[in-house]
Amino acid sequence: MTGPLVSQAIPRSPRGAGPETSPLLPPPLKWAGGKRWQVPHLRPLWEEHAGRRLVEPFCGGLAVTLGLRPARALLNDINPHVISFYRWLKRGLRIDLAMRNEERLYYAHRARFNELLAAGRADERETAALFYYLNRTGYNGLCRFNKCGKFNVPFGCYTKINYLRDFSDYVGVLRKWEFMSNDFESVPLKVDDFIYADPPYDVEFRSYTKDGFAWEDQVRTAEWLSHHRGPVILVNMATDRIRKVYRSLGYQLKFLEAPRMISCTGNRTPVKEVLALRNI
Ligand SMILES: C[S@@+](CC[C@H](N)C(=O)[O-])C[C@H]1O[C@@H](n2cnc3c(N)ncnc32)[C@H](O)[C@@H]1O
Repeated sequence: MTGPLVSQAIPRSPRGAGPETSPLLPPPLKWAGGKRWQVPHLRPLWEEHAGRRLVEPFCGGLAVTLGLRPARALLNDINPHVISFYRWLKRGLRIDLAMRNEERLYYAHRARFNELLAAGRADERETAALFYYLNRTGYNGLCRFNKCGKFNVPFGCYTKINYLRDFSDYVGVLRKWEFMSNDFESVPLKVDDFIYADPPYDVEFRSYTKDGFAWEDQVRTAEWLSHHRGPVILVNMATDRIRKVYRSLGYQLKFLEAPRMISCTGNRTPVKEVLALRNI
């Protein structure tokens, strides 16, 4: 499979059309490991199956589903805050709290977010609005909690941040998308679902990634999807052990180079990614 590494222009169509034809919307959150850059490579594979339900067991920042715009989708992530935010998007979230790129305001909103979590109010609209603000304003869009369950990401020091207050454009697109928050293996798959699975990267020579996703979880993901009878795309960092496991389970492997990232250490080495395909 070959394809451009840059986004393809998608013709825009009038508002009010169905989710497949309405204007392309950007992922509303910053999310580590976002795969927006893969959409041009995935589109030709998806188009063959576009009538199916799209399932993302690790949906994260939603970049792929928003890029492919299926009419029906089942989207899961173990992070309950991101899923609660999407459920509010579906209901036409409007944010009325103060949103400015200011350190004092950031820490005040972070304290309020933690207060709401401690009070068992994680699913409320105010909590979702604060989550959005913290995600845009905090360091690298990280979502990290301390041992006491408190969100502890520091202020991000960006030069400029664009905040969105009115998310009503997302309502029509998300109308037939369902959301759940659980371990990926609890996702109730239907035989003809199209699955795009993007687990946390395998980091070779370490048993756990920073998200607590162990090597056993990588194997569990690959085995779980190897039983699915519909189309599957499983993506990962192309480490030796990942290639070996995916090949041994009968996946067909394609390789892509992720766009170069400049890390904080100045390392610009491109990451080699694998797309493991079956029933496509
Ligand atoms: C690489 S990110 C997905 C990024 C997404 N494809 C995008 O473009 O934004 C991996 C996601 O897996 C989620 N995750 C980690 N462990 C999980 C588990 N056991 N079950 C479901 N989701 C999990 C993380 O919260 C994270 O959002």
